[in-house]
Amino acid sequence: MLRVVVCVSGGGTNLQAVIDGVESGAIHNTQIVRVISNNKNAYALERAAEHKIDAVCVSPRDYAERADFNAALLEAVKEAEPDLIVLAGFLVAIPPAMIAAYPKKIINIHPSLIPSFCGVGYYGLKVHEAALARGVKYTGATVHYVDEGTDTGPIILQKPVEVLPGDTPKILQQRVMEQAEWVILPEAIDMIATEKRSK
Ligand code: GAR
Repeated sequence: MLRVVVCVSGGGTNLQAVIDGVESGAIHNTQIVRVISNNKNAYALERAAEHKIDAVCVSPRDYAERADFNAALLEAVKEAEPDLIVLAGFLVAIPPAMIAAYPKKIINIHPSLIPSFCGVGYYGLKVHEAALARGVKYTGATVHYVDEGTDTGPIILQKPVEVLPGDTPKILQQRVMEQAEWVILPEAIDMIATEKRSK
């Protein structure tokens, strides 16, 4: 069984896609053992509770020093004894100690075709604003391993999505989620779970 911790900051639609994948059996041999949010108001926490998944909030607001928050975050991850950590809209810089503790065991979903529109400052709607400003005809999403850089780790899966006339950042964001993110994130987890079983 692949033990997965999912880290979230907001609405949690990608978390929902993973929960649905596990419950439907599309993601094999996998259990979501904990959801961690840095934001106590994240709707993602309610999604976890609805599905009886252990959910905790570790907020930087509760710590005077960033180092203490980083340590608490790592502790919350370690307690759950994960085989895989999934960043599903987790808008926190991953502490280097966590990357060192889980090499090739952290994956991230990013809402563009890396290496376009990624790196520091590119997250959420900003990614889609930049894609529309550049006038690309296709964008998409990427699942990649997390290394010390921002969106620089090895790519696992990508899926292109067409940009259409009249798109606004929000319309494009929704299409990228529906046609790419909610498809490739569960797929990548299933690939990793299947690989683990065959070892
Ligand atoms: C998703 O579009 C995800 O790709 C993006 O945040 C959104 C979270 O939505 N992540 C990044 O931009 C990371 N750089 P969700 O909470 O509904 O899954």
